[in-house]
Amino acid sequence: MEPADLVLRLLAWYDRARRALPWRALPGEVADPYRVWLSEVMLQQTTVAAVVPYFQAFIARWPTVAALAAAPVDEVMAQWAGLGYYARARNLHQCARTVAQWRQGCFPDDMGALRQLPGIGDYTAAAIAAIAFGRRAVVVDGNVERVMARLFAVTDPLPKVKPRLKELAATLTPAERPGDYAQAVMDLGATICTPKSPACGICPWMEGCRGRAAGIAAGLPAKVAKAERPIRRGIAFWTLARDGAVLLRRRPPQGLLGGMMEVPSTPWRSEGWTLETAAAEAPVAAAALAGDWRLLPGVVRHTFTHFHLELAVATGRSNAANAARGLWCPLDRLAQQALPTVMRKVVSHALAKAY
Ligand code: ADE
Repeated sequence: MEPADLVLRLLAWYDRARRALPWRALPGEVADPYRVWLSEVMLQQTTVAAVVPYFQAFIARWPTVAALAAAPVDEVMAQWAGLGYYARARNLHQCARTVAQWRQGCFPDDMGALRQLPGIGDYTAAAIAAIAFGRRAVVVDGNVERVMARLFAVTDPLPKVKPRLKELAATLTPAERPGDYAQAVMDLGATICTPKSPACGICPWMEGCRGRAAGIAAGLPAKVAKAERPIRRGIAFWTLARDGAVLLRRRPPQGLLGGMMEVPSTPWRSEGWTLETAAAEAPVAAAALAGDWRLLPGVVRHTFTHFHLELAVATGRSNAANAARGLWCPLDRLAQQALPTVMRKVVSHALAKAY
């Protein structure tokens, strides 16, 4: 089937079946670049379902790029807490500042200039150029790769085949309605051409799809097997002050969960810890405790991109108000802290198990 024919079919389907998403302009409306940018940064590595409430909270709190730029970075990090990949939040804020200070609050409208901004890579630059500014940009994320691999029956494995899939995507990207086209392929990937059990019977590309014709669509794209994630272990120290506040500290600015708050813990390593081996890593010396560290039953599990983490939780009561560096946070203020998901799990575990 000709590219123009495929595009027409897809756009006709999109006009009927497009998802109503809070950052999308209605048919005929002009998209707001701020909303497009914010949503695309949030959607990097994250599902639409997870993003929607965060997007709405951000827009309610900071309705313009100038408002976001004027916010303290800590408040942006705290509002982002739970979405993951926290460098995105820091870059988001940096980008807002750049656009507000140097560009009078207007996002650049071409890929090259967008690409210069913090946190905007090839994918995001293309998505903003196409969706917010109607540029013919080739937008390729994991969904688009899957759809292209199936449509063209590409059997070579990811990640090596990425450049080829991008070339194929480019052969389809239209000059007319490129933003709708990009979002249509994403919607197709999210609702019909799904990773498992694609709904080929109702697909607008059913007739053009070579993967379906060959009976191999569901197995594509092929992937080189990844190494299994290793397990790392640690003990987190749930340290309460006499007034009931809990000890938190800020992680170093660089690296995993950079700049986010945490319940202090031992380093995370493959070998397990005991209270004895962990003692030197505790945030409060045994002498400053009323009693001893006590291990709570069970562990907190969390999976990061490159490893699984198992954290045991030890509780202790500090007998001095200033026995440790860090932030003593009243329990009813924990919600306002920039605690990433793994640390929210630690908090829940401690609150459920400690007495
Ligand atoms: N995933 C990434 N960007 C998206 C968008 N604009 N619409 C739907 N899904 C997306």
